[in-house]
Amino acid sequence: MRINKYIAQAGVASRRKADELIRCGNVKVNGAVLREPGYDVQEGDRVEINGAEVGGAQKLEYVLINKPLGMVTTVEDDRDRLTVMDVVKDIDARLFPVGRLDYNTSGALIMTNDGDMAYRLTHPKHEVYKTYRALVKGVLSNERAARLRRGVDIGGFVTSPAKVKILKGTQHSTLVEIAIHEGKNRQVRKMFAAVGNPVQELERVAIGEVRLGHLKPGHYRKLTREEIEYLKNC
Ligand code: URA
Repeated sequence: MRINKYIAQAGVASRRKADELIRCGNVKVNGAVLREPGYDVQEGDRVEINGAEVGGAQKLEYVLINKPLGMVTTVEDDRDRLTVMDVVKDIDARLFPVGRLDYNTSGALIMTNDGDMAYRLTHPKHEVYKTYRALVKGVLSNERAARLRRGVDIGGFVTSPAKVKILKGTQHSTLVEIAIHEGKNRQVRKMFAAVGNPVQELERVAIGEVRLGHLKPGHYRKLTREEIEYLKNC
C-alpha cells in the first residue's frame, strides 16, 4: 500500500498531510528517512513519524457524538477537563474529532480515524452546511435576520450567506435555526453579536444531512453506511 494511504489509514494524518511529512523528511521506514513519496509499504516495514511508530491500518470508524456542554473538543486537556474522547472511550480505535465545538456549545460532532475524510470536511473550500439552534437575547427582527442571511462583518471577515429561520420568539429571547458552511472560531456567536442579539445557548443539530436527532448528550452512534458515503462525496 502506498505510504501516504498507509499513514492516513493508521489514523495519523490525511494523505495530503502525509505527503508533506514525507517531503519534510519526518517519515522513516526501517530506520532510514524516506525520500520516495510513492513508496509501497511492505509487510514487516517499520514506519515512523517524528520518531513514533505508526501502526498498521486500523478499521475505519465513523461516529456521531452529542457533545455535552462543558466538554472540550480535543484529544487531551492539560487542565484535566472532560474531553470528547471520554464519550467514545469504549471504541477500540484512535478516533479524533472532525472540527470543533466550543466548550459551551453542545451537539453534533463527527469523530473518526479516517484522516482523509477529516481533512476534506474541515477544508475551507468544503461547503457542507452545519446547522445550529441558537437561543439569542432579545427580539431578532426581520431586518437583522436578513443581515445575517446576506453576511455580516465579524471583525475583519465578512461571512458568506447563511440560512436563517426564526423558530420562536418572546420579548426576551428568540430561538433561531442558522446554517453556515464556514468554520471561523466562534462564528455563530460572533454573527449574532454583530447584529446585537448575543447567543445564550448554542447547539449544533446537523452536519450536512447527518442529523443529531434524539441522540442524548454524552452519547454516540455509529454513522450509517449511507451517511458515510454521503460525507465522502458531499
Ligand atoms: N459557532 C460558534 O460560535 N461556536 C461553535 O461551537 C460552533 C460554531
